[in-house]
This record gives sequence, C-alpha cells and structure tokens, in this order.
Amino acid sequence: MTNKRIVLIIGGGIAAYKCLDLIRRLKERGVAVRAVLTRAAEQFVTPLSVGALSNEPVFTNLFDLNSEREIGHIRLSREADLVVVAPATADLLAKMAGGHADDLASTVLMATDKPVLVAPAMNPRMWLHPATRRNVAQLKADGITIIDPAVGEMAERGEAGPGRLPDVPDLMAAILDALDRKTNTAARIEDGRATAKAALLPLRGRRVLITSGPTHEPIDPVRYIANRSSGKQGHAIAAAAARAGAQVTLVSGPVSIPDPAGVAVIHVETAQEMLEAAQRALPADVGIFTAAVADWRVASAETQKIKKKAGSKAPALTLTENPDILKTIAAKGPQRPALIVGFAAETNDVTGYAARKLKTKNADWIVANDVSPHTGIMGGDRNRVHLVSVGGVEDWPEMSKQDVAEALIARIAEHFAAQKDAAQ
Ligand code: CTP
Repeated sequence: MTNKRIVLIIGGGIAAYKCLDLIRRLKERGVAVRAVLTRAAEQFVTPLSVGALSNEPVFTNLFDLNSEREIGHIRLSREADLVVVAPATADLLAKMAGGHADDLASTVLMATDKPVLVAPAMNPRMWLHPATRRNVAQLKADGITIIDPAVGEMAERGEAGPGRLPDVPDLMAAILDALDRKTNTAARIEDGRATAKAALLPLRGRRVLITSGPTHEPIDPVRYIANRSSGKQGHAIAAAAARAGAQVTLVSGPVSIPDPAGVAVIHVETAQEMLEAAQRALPADVGIFTAAVADWRVASAETQKIKKKAGSKAPALTLTENPDILKTIAAKGPQRPALIVGFAAETNDVTGYAARKLKTKNADWIVANDVSPHTGIMGGDRNRVHLVSVGGVEDWPEMSKQDVAEALIARIAEHFAAQKDAAQ
C-alpha cells in the first residue's frame, strides 16, 4: 500500500484520540496522512501531536492564509486517494448532508472528487435520532461509505448503545479496503479506456506507406508530362489510416491539396523520386499505392529550355518506361509489406483488368474504379470501387472518397484482426 495518500478529517469528539494511533498505523503501512482538524477537534487533540505523528502539515482553519497559500482546499482534497472522516460528529454529518462549507473540513468534503469514508461516533441517542438517521441515509445516497459505529459503553457514565468509534484495527481494515477498492476501480477504468482506445485505433502500432497524386516527368526545366490525378483519394486514405492510429508515411506527387494531419509527408515530383522515397519508408505493414504514376518519362530531359527555331520541326520526345513502384515493392523479399493494396483506373472491363493486375503486380488487393469521363471520378469527390482479391470481387456502393478511405482502412484493420485471431 505504498504511495497512497489520505486526508483524515478529525471531528470533535472524545474518540478523536484514537486518530493518533490510526495515523501511526497508517504510516506503518506506507499510507501518507494529511490531517484536517475541526475547531471542536482541537479541544481533544492538538495539531502538534497530530503533525508529529503524521509528519505532514496539519490544517485547522479555512482562513489560515498561510496554508491556503501553500495548498488550497481544492488541492488538499484532490491530491488524496481517499478522504476519511473520523470521528464524524452528528454536527459534521448534518453539515455534510446539507452541503455546508463554512470551515476547512466541510469545504474539503464539498470540494473533493475522491471516495469518502465516514466513521461516525456520538452518543447513542444522537446516533438514533431521526435527524441523524436522515443525514446518514442522505450521505449513503450520495455515495459516501459509512462505517457503522460500534456498540458499547459510552464515555458518559451509564450510557450504552451504538455510537462508539470502531477500534483502530477495524478502522484500518475499512480504510485499506477502500484504498484497495479505489485502486481496483481506477485499474478497471484504465483497462476500459485502453480497450476503447484499441477499438478506436485499430491500426495502432502498424506502419502504413501510401503513394498519392500524379507524378510530373520533366521535358525541360519548365515543361513536364502530367495527368489529372488530384491526390484526393490517396490523401484521404492517409488521413483515415492516421486516425486509426497507424504510423503513416505518405509519398505525394505534386498536388494542390493540403498535407493530411498526423501523417509524415514526403513530397516528390517524378516516378523515380517516388520509388526512392517509398523504398526509404520501408519497412511497413501495409503498402497502399494510389498514385497515378506516369508510365513513361522523357528519355533524356533537356537541362535548358527547348527553344522554338524558325523553320525547324517540332521536337520529337523519346519516352522510356518508368519503374513500377507497386510492382517493385510488392516483389517477394524481406522488405515486402504484409499487405499490398494497388489501385486500378479502368474505363472498361474494370474488374477483369484489376484481377490481371493483382497477378502481374503481386498485389494482395486491387481497388478498381471506373474512370470513364462520364463518371466524374478523376478529380471529383465521389468514387465507386470494387475490391478485387484472390477471394473474389466486392462491389462497394458509390460513396465519397472520404468514405471509401474510411471503409478501406476498416477493411485493412479487419484483415489484421482476423489474422491475429487465426494465430491465437
Ligand atoms: N503503379 C505504380 N507505379 C507505376 C505504375 C503504376 O506504383 N509506374 C501503381 C499505381 O499506383 C496503382 C497501380 O499500380 O496502384 C495501377 O497500375 P497501372 O498498371 O498503372 O494501371 P493503370 O494506371 O490502370 O494503367 P494500365 O491500365 O495502363 O495498366
């Protein structure tokens, strides 16, 4: 029970002396005790003896400016794991039940967000009085734990019945139990939060590489070959993967949309640069290739601007094939991501071509879409895709590129979850 801290509020009653022994025993068990004495308690125990045993400052008055400056009542009540009131007089119970805050003890009790354990001690007639019964019922309804007083002889001669402060070992047991329960509750809440977080972040701990946008292949320093890709789909996937908790590297060709939040973005121009950046981003668990990579580049781009010459023919451009980034990274080898997702932009036989690409490029999935001009997909905000894998074809309904991104990331998370289940 180390590193636990309680605030002990000592009320005014003959049983207050038991708190001295209680503090000593709590300290022996590694529980730090900060004591607050009500004005009445000071008639029974002195702040000096309490402080000497607790080895902590003792708080006695709400308007003690020094202690307010050093540690406000809010902090006092919040820094504890548990607030214990012992002995709690009938008056203190009434104040608590009524929500009073006119001295330090009652203010701490009003300000705390920690569990409160109350050990009442009073004359049996006061304990059995309907007002006390009402107050105790109210405190229980407020979630406060009451340790019922022991039955026995009272300090007053001839008085007997319920009202004695339980003996120190019984108080200790109740306090240690409450501290333990509090720890267990906190652990349960923490566990619950972790589970919820894992559900919200299904790709936590996964590395995802995504290519996006077009590439620009230079003809000379001012001209280039390009295509109409906007990068919207790839960037949306990168953002969705980051939201799912993945560590994302996005290799982006020249686009006019902003970098997605929470993603490491590498900006490139050409296919060659995109390949090199993608290779440097390995290893990754998933590779998603949405970029519209130029299939060809000018074999030898001019280093100076090509000038028109009067009377001479238009220059002929000799093209050469660009590396296939997806195919290169999907090739068998130790660096191959476990899941490779390619995209296919087709204008006819969409799933047929996609199925062929799956094989020729060694991809695991191909997200195929119809980019015929009438669909408005290229550069637009909506998309209608088919997920092609060796398992078959899933036709997804038309949705926004944002939703396609979310759905694809959810599908990838499911894939890894299923693999994990299978491995267990
Ligand atoms: N891809 C790539 N590197 C290339 C060409 C394509 O990484 N040099 C990737 C794209 O990012 C996409 C898939 O491969 O994931 C598309 O393949 P591709 O053969 O280019 O298909 P299309 O663009 O649909 O072209 P085509 O029909 O002419 O084969």
